[in-house]
Amino acid sequence: MIFDEFSIKTLIRPVVDFPSPGVIFRDITPLLQSPKALRMVADSLVQRYVESDFSHIGALDARGFIIGSILAYELNRPLILFRKQGKLPADVLTESYRTEYGEAFLEVHADSLCEGDSVLLIDDLIATGGTFIAAAQLVRRMGAQVYEAAAVIDLPELGGSCKLQDMGIPTFTLTAFG
Ligand code: PRP
Ligand code: ADE
Repeated sequence: MIFDEFSIKTLIRPVVDFPSPGVIFRDITPLLQSPKALRMVADSLVQRYVESDFSHIGALDARGFIIGSILAYELNRPLILFRKQGKLPADVLTESYRTEYGEAFLEVHADSLCEGDSVLLIDDLIATGGTFIAAAQLVRRMGAQVYEAAAVIDLPELGGSCKLQDMGIPTFTLTAFG
């Protein structure tokens, strides 16, 4: 199936002033409700990474879990969950971070990666980059490295993808909103 960026973009709904004034929230639920569009997104990412030699997929809470799980299944790699604080039951590592509309803590099980592991991080969207950067710090604290940070949507005006590149983390997104 050929990736049709225009039809993917029309299935990402802008919601003005959610969750706070001034934010245009990019809602992927219409895309998830289209089996064809979700398949197109998943297939494009599978195609990009099918020959890649990273060891793990790291999915970011919560919307990153959807595409991260599909990729882990299709590419047959272990799936690591990066979760918001208080959700993971065993020993965790924690990083604080800021996003476009809030402040939070991201956690990962402390035994989920080893030195030498290489992780493809997956989320739905890059805005300020705060969430991906926190996940990357957690990966590095376990002695592993980030292979790439991939998302469906980039919001380049918020600077996250640039910040990630400056930190030596390659990024990949399927579409962008200016
Ligand atoms: C959103 C989105 C990314 C993050 C991007 O998650 O799914 O994870 O914000 O923003 P950033 O680049 O500024 O960090 P949100 O925190 O709203 O959580 P959710 O996925 O649980 O809805
Ligand atoms: N996460 C951070 N900023 C966002 C936005 N504008 N839309 C959806 N998710 C986001």
